[in-house]
Amino acid sequence: MIKLALTKGRIEKKAIEILRCCGYDMSDLDDKGRKLLFNCPSNNGDDDLQIVLAKAADVITYVEHGTCDVGFVGRDTIMEMGGDFYEVIDLNFGICRFALAGIKDKDFYAGYGHKVIATKYPNVTKKFFAAKDIDCEIVKIEGSVELAPILGLADAIVDIVETGATLKENGLDVYEDVAYISARCIANSAAIKLKNCELNKFFKKIEAEVQASK
Ligand code: PRP
Repeated sequence: MIKLALTKGRIEKKAIEILRCCGYDMSDLDDKGRKLLFNCPSNNGDDDLQIVLAKAADVITYVEHGTCDVGFVGRDTIMEMGGDFYEVIDLNFGICRFALAGIKDKDFYAGYGHKVIATKYPNVTKKFFAAKDIDCEIVKIEGSVELAPILGLADAIVDIVETGATLKENGLDVYEDVAYISARCIANSAAIKLKNCELNKFFKKIEAEVQASK
C-alpha cells in the first residue's frame, strides 16, 4: 500500500483525474462528504493507494514525518515551508505564479522609504526582496490579501495569481513576477529507499500520465 497525502482544493480534482488514468479506482472520493481517508485499489495488480486529504502545509508535514510516503502539493507551499523530502515530479497542473502586485498604475519602486508588503508567504517574500537588496516590512495575512493595499495596510502584496481575476476585480495589477508555481509530487526520503520498487512503479505511471496530458 502507498500512502499519498493530497492537498485539498485547488489541485484535488486534477490529481484525482490523473490517478484514475493511472489505473486506481478513485470512486471512494466521488461522494466524499466529510471523510478524509480514502482507499483506492489498483485495477492492475499494483500496490493500492490510500489517500489522505489535507491542507497543503500538512501534506508536507505528513510526508516529512513518513506518515505518508508521497504527497501532491503546490510549489508555493514547498517554497514557503521547505523541509526534508524529495521533490520527485513536476505534475504540470495547478499552474499559477507568485507575483508582486498592488494598486493599478502606482509606481511601486518610487520613493526611498521602506516598503510594507502583505502576504501569506513571508519566507518567499523575504527572499525575493533580499535578492533585490530592498528593505521591506512584511505583514502576515491569512487570506484575501488583496484587501491590504486597498485598505492602506501595505504598499503591495506577494500572492498567488492564477487567472488574474481577483486582482483585476479589486483594481490591482501585477508589478512583477516572483516565481512559477505548479503542483509537485514529493516523497519521504526513507520511503524512497524502503519502498523503492513500489514507489518507482508509481512515479513511472504518474510521469507517463503527466507527459500524456501535456
Ligand atoms: C488565491 C490567491 C488569490 C486568488 C488568485 O486565493 O490568494 O486571492 O487565489 O486567483 P486568480 O488570479 O485566479 O483570481 P484563494 O482562492 O486560495 O483564497 P484566499 O484568498 O483565502 O487565500
